[in-house]
Amino acid sequence: MTSSEIRTRFLRFFDKRGHTVIPSASLVTSDEKGITNPTLFNTAGMQPLIPYLLGKPYEKDGKVITRLVDSQKCLRTTDLDDVGDKRHATFFEMLGNWSLGDYFKREAIEWSFEFLTSQTEGLGLDPHKLYVTVFEGDLNAPRDDEASGIWREIFKKNNIDCGGDTSKGEKGRIFFMPAKNNWWEAGDNGPCGPDSEMFFDAIDRFKGGLISLEDYIDAEDKSDLVEVWNDVFMQYEKKDGKVVGKLPKPSVDTGAGLERLAMTMQGVDNIYDTDLLKPVMDLMSDDSLTVKNKRIIADHLRASAFLITDGVTPSNTDRGYILRRLIRRAIVNTSDKKFDKSGTIAVVDALISTYKDAYPDLEAKKDLVVETITTEAVKFEKTINDAIHEFNKLINEQDAHQLTANIAFILFTSFGLPLEITLELATIKKPIAVEDNISEKFTKLMSEHQALSRAGAEQKFKGGLADANDPMVVRYHTATHLLHQALHDVLGEEIGNQKGSNITADRLRFDFTGIKLTEEQKKRVEDIVNDKIAAALPVNKIVMPLSEAEKTGARHFFGEKYSDNVSIYFIGKASNPPAVEDLATAYSKEFCGGPHVSNTKELSGPEGKWRFKIQKEEAVAQGVRRIKAVLA
Ligand code: SER
Repeated sequence: MTSSEIRTRFLRFFDKRGHTVIPSASLVTSDEKGITNPTLFNTAGMQPLIPYLLGKPYEKDGKVITRLVDSQKCLRTTDLDDVGDKRHATFFEMLGNWSLGDYFKREAIEWSFEFLTSQTEGLGLDPHKLYVTVFEGDLNAPRDDEASGIWREIFKKNNIDCGGDTSKGEKGRIFFMPAKNNWWEAGDNGPCGPDSEMFFDAIDRFKGGLISLEDYIDAEDKSDLVEVWNDVFMQYEKKDGKVVGKLPKPSVDTGAGLERLAMTMQGVDNIYDTDLLKPVMDLMSDDSLTVKNKRIIADHLRASAFLITDGVTPSNTDRGYILRRLIRRAIVNTSDKKFDKSGTIAVVDALISTYKDAYPDLEAKKDLVVETITTEAVKFEKTINDAIHEFNKLINEQDAHQLTANIAFILFTSFGLPLEITLELATIKKPIAVEDNISEKFTKLMSEHQALSRAGAEQKFKGGLADANDPMVVRYHTATHLLHQALHDVLGEEIGNQKGSNITADRLRFDFTGIKLTEEQKKRVEDIVNDKIAAALPVNKIVMPLSEAEKTGARHFFGEKYSDNVSIYFIGKASNPPAVEDLATAYSKEFCGGPHVSNTKELSGPEGKWRFKIQKEEAVAQGVRRIKAVLA
């Protein structure tokens, strides 16, 4: 059975049972106020429905509806390192039927069984190969004897022996498990409750027979039993990690992973051989790639295509950073670390033919997807080449026979190369030994570095300006913002991040992450700043709550504690009074306490003759450069 057929059957099955079919929400979680929004992306089918599970009425065409069914796009990056094995993926689809204060355990369980086993309407799985778990109880909620009782009845009605009480050492097919396995919640706040999971013995390990708790645990551990569905009985609400009470009405949240179902129905032992990913896998004919490399590329490109379709663009923060990381990891897993545009187009085409019925957006946004991946990939290729060059240089310079945390740290601060990618470079590109405990040592260097950045930020906000009343100091302050942006224009987003700033009436001094600038780069930076001065751009300030300010893309220090309201200085066209929309087109925007000139033309001095000039560019620490510049 194709995955498309599975999806259709699922929606139709519940549609026939009074459920309204709703489209998948975007992968990007809602920022709407009042919605519990624990993650950047929907990591489970229930996430977009949290407010309704908590009691908010779900309205469609003016009517409140209480039964829904959908196939929700999800993205999880918590198991990124496991992607490439048989079961893990970042992107996946979750089929789910929902009762919003309508039916509860009995219908949910009965329908799950019926859909899994019905030949005509469902998947027609052999019910003898089904094993289920229910919650064993803890301080929050009692043992779920109700769910186990319903399972027992259903099996009996279908003439399937379900044995004895497995919690007493007898053989059976219903197992009581602790909260770790059978309690569901999306974070510390929100609806939650005990659940019942269904497993299918796809490899026929138990020949449909009764098994002991030990057998079950062993088979689950070895993935011999595949979890195909989870029925969550939403009954409680958690606040700050504690159950604080019962929900106004109990609800049902179910989740059946489409990838897993496809695997089960198509008789393959891994999700990459299902019709969801096989067409992409088949495009990769390069013999030097391992299966794991191919799977990572297939998974990451699929996730990237869906993220871009849902409006995410690569950047250095939050959602954009995840996308950037996925695209980069895909490239790192190619044999020559090179991006192949025609290969990418072929992958996107394969994804479109697999998904065009369920997600027509993917086809509609094909050009955007290809363009975004291409632009990002080309940027990364450059970064990687620079990084490899620097990597080799550092290894030779330091006469290192191994990759040390220190080298990894320099590559991170200078090129934004995450440790995991450096490690991949060290193992794939240039096989070299890796220092013991490199991760711990790297983390330690990072926290020292963050402490330094904070000190830098404080210095910038408090002591960075010698005398804020001196008009020359104010000019240099604005020039510093132009320089900061110009460095990013020339060096890319990866490097050129501010590490410190010190301004007197005679010069500006600016420390940033990077490696030695070439003469040509210095010249380009100077030219850009002088162009912006000549363009006579207005400089304005806008004050807004921190949470909104963070979304504007204005530069600021990561990990820095800002107050609840921050001011952003931006250089560029402004409305009167300046508005948030102006920030989209501004040349430079930074969280900053000021003061600044009101127009960049003031930087050219009283007679309009001064030019911005870099006097010195030098190293101050590993991976940190310092520029001294003047207006003269
Ligand atoms: N929320 C549950 C899960 O993700 C069921 O949908 O498994």
